[in-house]
Amino acid sequence: MSLDRCRIIDLPKISDPRGNLTFIEGEHQIPFAIQRVYYLYDVPGGSERGGHAHNGLHQLIIAMSGSFDVILDDGEKKKRIHLNRPYNGLYVCPMIWRALDNFSSGSVCMVLASNYYDEADYYRDYAEFMKVRSQG
Ligand code: TYD
Repeated sequence: MSLDRCRIIDLPKISDPRGNLTFIEGEHQIPFAIQRVYYLYDVPGGSERGGHAHNGLHQLIIAMSGSFDVILDDGEKKKRIHLNRPYNGLYVCPMIWRALDNFSSGSVCMVLASNYYDEADYYRDYAEFMKVRSQG
């Protein structure tokens, strides 16, 4: 699972003078079935979220409002991605360390996830994550 698999997905945008509409169907626009949705909001300026990896979870991260950065790290390469469009989703495959920072005031980060919350799926220790990655 390398960083090359993580990518921005352009979501459908139905433009309308009454307001735009975007939709996401699991396994259609995104490469997994959606089991869970969560969102970050009221994030104080200067905060960092994330700071972990997942063993098996697939996610799509969307800036529903405002903007923030996602830093992805596969143990070899790192990439900083700025998200600021509700019709762009960042697909993050399993075994990628991620952190989120640079939240604009009033921003909302929505995450679609391929499974229910399971603490056992997390790597919260970077050294442990790197050890597992190096084992292949
Ligand atoms: P965490 O995943 O560490 O947040 P983030 O990556 O956004 O910084 O989760 C923070 C806390 O919330 C942690 O105690 C677990 C809990 N939590 C749930 O109970 N359900 C969930 O779906 C998520 C994402 C977190």
